[in-house]
Amino acid sequence: MSNILEVKDLCKTYIINKRQNNVLKNVSFSISEGEMVAIMGPSGSGKSTLLYNVSGMDSFTAGSVRFCGNELSGFTESELSDLRLDKMGFIFQQMYMLKNLTIFDNILLPSLQSKSNTKSRKEKVEYAQSLMRRLGIIDIADNDINEVSGGQLQRACICRSMINSPKMIFADEPTGALNRTTSDEVMDELAKLNADGTTIMLVTHDVKVAAKCSRVMFLVDGNISGEYNLEKWNADSQLRDRERTLSNWLMEMGW
Ligand SMILES: Nc1ncnc2c1ncn2[C@@H]1O[C@H](COP(=O)(O)OP(=O)(O)O)[C@@H](O)[C@H]1O
Ligand SMILES: [Mg+2]
Repeated sequence: MSNILEVKDLCKTYIINKRQNNVLKNVSFSISEGEMVAIMGPSGSGKSTLLYNVSGMDSFTAGSVRFCGNELSGFTESELSDLRLDKMGFIFQQMYMLKNLTIFDNILLPSLQSKSNTKSRKEKVEYAQSLMRRLGIIDIADNDINEVSGGQLQRACICRSMINSPKMIFADEPTGALNRTTSDEVMDELAKLNADGTTIMLVTHDVKVAAKCSRVMFLVDGNISGEYNLEKWNADSQLRDRERTLSNWLMEMGW
């Protein structure tokens, strides 16, 4: 499998009141097409910063990030914005849904904005509907975003992240605000997407979430201090074992 993401010596430094905060310190890793990778680590270790910087949401201080073979720092702002729209999907906790649009229109919008999505408007509408049906939220299509539950909103975010059939989805604690049952359901949807070929990189604090991924990277103080490979998850029966071995490893890592 070829690498969809190649990160080399990535550094990110914030400067606040003339004080330097080196948040990412020479981070290097690759993700191959089709992987589902979890980033874990203590609060403040730089997980969100890493996600923003490798997905072109923020500009890094030094190093190299290649996405589908293209160096991100070589892109203009508008090229980056097209890349994010066409090739990447985002599921973030502060969900960035537009308050003046219905759930359906929020999901549809990125496909109308995309220059490279060649579907007709009718096809885009039908695809948005089919995604909503698949995620079990078609009945809230016409609701405002403040008229739905957290789980429904998170599912809507997944639909929106998929609308342009991205090559890779980036998710920052996608289940962080959800109860156990809803979290499991959302994770199962992400795992299905991954089984259909979408590469996924997600940040999580939840061992049960990470146990459904194929690899876990542990970030401490802006460095990857270890990584753990799991087989691809395909049956619930293995879940307990996966959680147990992963928990043991996390404890060794100082979790
Ligand atoms: N926009 C920002 N400006 C300045 N400092 C930031 C910014 N975003 C994050 N940081 C700092 O970077 C560090 C890592 O933050 P973050 O990536 O959010 O960690 P995590 O997601 O692992 O909890 C923290 O010290 C945080 O204060
Ligand atoms: Mg974070």
